[in-house]
Amino acid sequence: MTPTFPDISISTDRLVLRPFEEADIPELTAMMSDELTATWTSAPVPYTAAEARDWITRRAPAERAEGRGIVLAVHELLTHRLVGSVHLRNTNWRALATEVGYVVAPWARGEGYAAESVLAVAQWLFQDQKFERLELRTAAGNTASQQVAQKIGCLSEGVLRNALIVRSRTEDGGWTDIRTDLIVWGLLPEDLEDAPGPGYRAG
Ligand SMILES: CC(C)(COP(=O)(O)OP(=O)(O)OC[C@H]1O[C@@H](n2cnc3c(N)ncnc32)[C@H](O)[C@@H]1OP(=O)(O)O)[C@@H](O)C(=O)NCCC(=O)NCCS
Repeated sequence: MTPTFPDISISTDRLVLRPFEEADIPELTAMMSDELTATWTSAPVPYTAAEARDWITRRAPAERAEGRGIVLAVHELLTHRLVGSVHLRNTNWRALATEVGYVVAPWARGEGYAAESVLAVAQWLFQDQKFERLELRTAAGNTASQQVAQKIGCLSEGVLRNALIVRSRTEDGGWTDIRTDLIVWGLLPEDLEDAPGPGYRAG
């Protein structure tokens, strides 16, 4: 049987990461209806409430249940506002390696939330789940995401030329797909040894 991640919640100083709930549908819809998310991720455009419902009730739980990864909603500890999402995917249980994707809501960017939540997930993966590798894949033009990778201590391992499709605005205000290079970043347990990090509590 394929292993699966446990049904967890992780807290940091400012954030709580836990599975999405149906009550998150309106905030998830608002968070994903955003230019940068449309540009750099493969999320549907436009992102409807029906899409959010399907993700929360069916597809995100299946990621965990079927052993591919886990999807976590990121909430501010104090306000309970939805501020982001972290997704582990393409997990290789033999190599103990997985890939992380993330989005921070436009209303919560620039506060260090992406770095704080991904670092907490990495610490949990390495310490609690005994994983050996976390991979991050960014479009060559996605500067903010590259900053996040660098801040948490990832090393840039190489460029996959022409490997990714991103979106770009057309003159008439629509979207078109364009091809771009992909940067692969890796984080190993030893890369975190010197980093104090935010710490995490898993429950
Ligand atoms: C990438 C993303 C998650 C970053 O979220 P965030 O919470 O703002 O990230 P952080 O605050 O932890 O760090 C962002 C860093 O990028 C920097 N940054 C942001 N926009 C930038 C830009 N256009 N150019 C250069 N640096 C930029 C910030 O200054 C910050 O660095 P600093 O802490 O050294 O000042 C967010 O922009 C997002 O959701 N983008 C759309 C979805 C996406 O691209 N996901 C990643 C796919 S790989």
